[in-house]
Amino acid sequence: METYRNADAPLDVRVADLMGRLTLQEKVRLLAGASHFNLHAIERLGVPSLSVTDGPTGVRSLRGEIATVFPVGVALAATWNPETARNVAGAIAREALAHGDQVVLAPTINIMRIPHWGRNFESYSEDPHLTARIGVAYVQGLQAEGVGASLKHYAANNQELERFEVDVRVDERTLREIYLAAFEAVVKEADPWTVMASYNKIGGVYASEHRRLLTTILKEEWGYEGMVVSDWNAVKATTAAAAGLDLEMPGPERWFGDKLMASVERGDVLESQIEDNVRRVIRLIVRSGLLDGPRPAGELRTPRHAAIACDAAAEAMTLLKNEAEMLPLSPQMRRVALIGPNAVRCQLQGGVSSKVVTGRTTSLLEAFRARLGPKVEVHLAQGVDSEPYPPIPAPWLFSPDETRSGEGLEAQYYAEPGCGGALLATVAERAFVRRVSANIAGADRPTYASFRWAGWFWPERSGDYEFGLRATGEATLTLEDEALITPSMPATPDHYDVLGRIVPRRLARTRLEAGRGYRIVVEYTPLSEGHEYIGLGVRDPAESIEHAISLARSADAVVLVLGSASITEAEGYDRVNLTLPGAQDELARHVLGANPNTIVVINTGSPVAMPWIEDAPAVLQMWLPGETGPQALAEVVFGDREPGGRLPMSFPARFGDHPAHAVSSDPLTCDYSEALAVGYRHYDAIEAAPLFPFGHGHAYTSFHYGVLDAPDQATAGQPFAVEIEVANTGERTGDEVVQLYVAPRTPRLPRPPKELKAFAKVRLAPGERRTVRLELGEKAFAVWDVEAKGWVVDPGAYDLLVGRSAGDIRAASTVRVVR
Ligand code: BGC
Repeated sequence: METYRNADAPLDVRVADLMGRLTLQEKVRLLAGASHFNLHAIERLGVPSLSVTDGPTGVRSLRGEIATVFPVGVALAATWNPETARNVAGAIAREALAHGDQVVLAPTINIMRIPHWGRNFESYSEDPHLTARIGVAYVQGLQAEGVGASLKHYAANNQELERFEVDVRVDERTLREIYLAAFEAVVKEADPWTVMASYNKIGGVYASEHRRLLTTILKEEWGYEGMVVSDWNAVKATTAAAAGLDLEMPGPERWFGDKLMASVERGDVLESQIEDNVRRVIRLIVRSGLLDGPRPAGELRTPRHAAIACDAAAEAMTLLKNEAEMLPLSPQMRRVALIGPNAVRCQLQGGVSSKVVTGRTTSLLEAFRARLGPKVEVHLAQGVDSEPYPPIPAPWLFSPDETRSGEGLEAQYYAEPGCGGALLATVAERAFVRRVSANIAGADRPTYASFRWAGWFWPERSGDYEFGLRATGEATLTLEDEALITPSMPATPDHYDVLGRIVPRRLARTRLEAGRGYRIVVEYTPLSEGHEYIGLGVRDPAESIEHAISLARSADAVVLVLGSASITEAEGYDRVNLTLPGAQDELARHVLGANPNTIVVINTGSPVAMPWIEDAPAVLQMWLPGETGPQALAEVVFGDREPGGRLPMSFPARFGDHPAHAVSSDPLTCDYSEALAVGYRHYDAIEAAPLFPFGHGHAYTSFHYGVLDAPDQATAGQPFAVEIEVANTGERTGDEVVQLYVAPRTPRLPRPPKELKAFAKVRLAPGERRTVRLELGEKAFAVWDVEAKGWVVDPGAYDLLVGRSAGDIRAASTVRVVR
């Protein structure tokens, strides 16, 4: 057997053996993808094509295959429980195995610099320590199952505005302490198989071409042996290879391949550099197990995975306010009202590349009815419609045939424009009706000139429906053989797709009756090859706010579920402020006025403004909880489970309070002028309280903190532990997250007033007391010293502050750090 095929041989020996068998041409070919999510195979040597997919919420399929939707990144961070992140990642890895992928493009560990970043939901925290702890566990959880991670997006990718071009200006110390710290920790502790370079520039240089970031810091300083992949279409020059970018994605290549070969021949890129790049790609292929025979089968959408998702969703739920212990609600009630746009349509995940194709999921109404049983009436009212445009309809509202035996539509792909010429393919297309932004530009369909989707639409209610088609080129929608939307109709103002291109939208209304199917056909001819973009939206008949208010009056308790609309939180754009979309704040005021027994649930992945907060006795942050979120919410609201979450970011009282809320006059540059003052570091520095502080969250019980047991003296750079006794003083079992912040007394360099450096989560029974141990690592007191070009621990006095949040310190002690 050839050495590279011998699973018992050491990794580096196998890699060297395979490298030795390749021509330069074959090596260069390996440095670019073959297709959207696949690397090149080496047929001659029997090396199959390695397959990657997104992450991080579950396994994404471009072919519309369903997978479990797990709680999004911010929800995992809100558990403050690395073990939960590890379990979820392990489950995602098993789904990836079942799906045939070797690498999952996750986790997203960019810092939440701004509260309105469109990808906050996908990311973990405003704090590097919390981000690192969750990130390490996620990567270890994935890779323990034999599936590689891709740590993304390296680096300083903290906004969607101009994400392909924005030049981030950040000082070296801030870069190291805030934006690189979690990357450094995860690279060193968890050895992710791949790291993804981001789109943006840092100090005038694209991340993909940033030799100092990719080679000097990541590969040399941190000793990273894995592979650096570009973000999709981020490469803009062959010289990226020389900077340390190992793989251009997606394929087929734009800059690598023949162009890179020519650069090597000219000597612009050294052959020794190519050797290093290829070694890393081959190392990934060998490591992935692709050469070692059958891989573990994995599992997809099993009850075990649903349970893992549900546990994590409940553990993430963060009880922001609970006056007079309103929550948990007693299930002994006569009548419960579920009100709000997100009560009707719970947002389970965020948009675009992290979006997992969902199977049939339980609605909130179904989950509450299942929890409460037949004796309790549960009623539902939308109150207001928060969707700015007709949202993506659920696939089960469609069927390919008149008997409604399946879900979705039947798609046909044609060789000529206008659904003419040869019929090239017929496929079941759940994804088309599931994604407003069905970005098919990158998928493997270059030869199709036009498309038709056909089947039946089954309205759930009678009334006026609004249909929307968002498409480049020519798109027509017919209902019962009558053209409802045609290319000649006026388009609403242009909107941009995720790649920044203009996509017109056309809307039309029609009255439909529930209980029957309507024949629907969508025909589409793209503008030009590579500029394909189409999405379907359907808006249900409107409901009156009065109906919701009278329902609230008649109920024993109201669960008011507010939050993001389907396109509020996604990759590709940021929110413009923190206001809930639509007239939800108005709805909240009316409902809180109509029934004081109202619990507000927030279904978002980011902070929102709560102008009605004084009138709301209880507020529960639900996050974007994944597909079992509705069951988890019912169980938390009625006290079967504890709300285990704590905020991984500060919730500003007003948008303008946030240090980096303003967009500069030149959107192509972004000065990180607030420097280290990110999140709670800012609120501490200006001594202003946010609406809810970092780390905040109530339990259904209460805790008492004892005296902090810490040494008086410690040696710089040497880890040590402190201990504190925590007691559950309430009547229910509960989870507490004990947080340790370090505050320098007289810092040599200006420093944030305090920084999170350790935390521990404990579950305590009523009356139970436990000594909680918190470990301070070697860098707990360190700063990045620009002059010394390294991490330095300054001797001196430091306060150790232990508490329930950045705004609720319960015990303190001072330690003198000596050399
Ligand atoms: C995103 C990445 C993602 C990639 C592949 C990019 O647009 O920024 O996070 O992994 O697409 O889908």
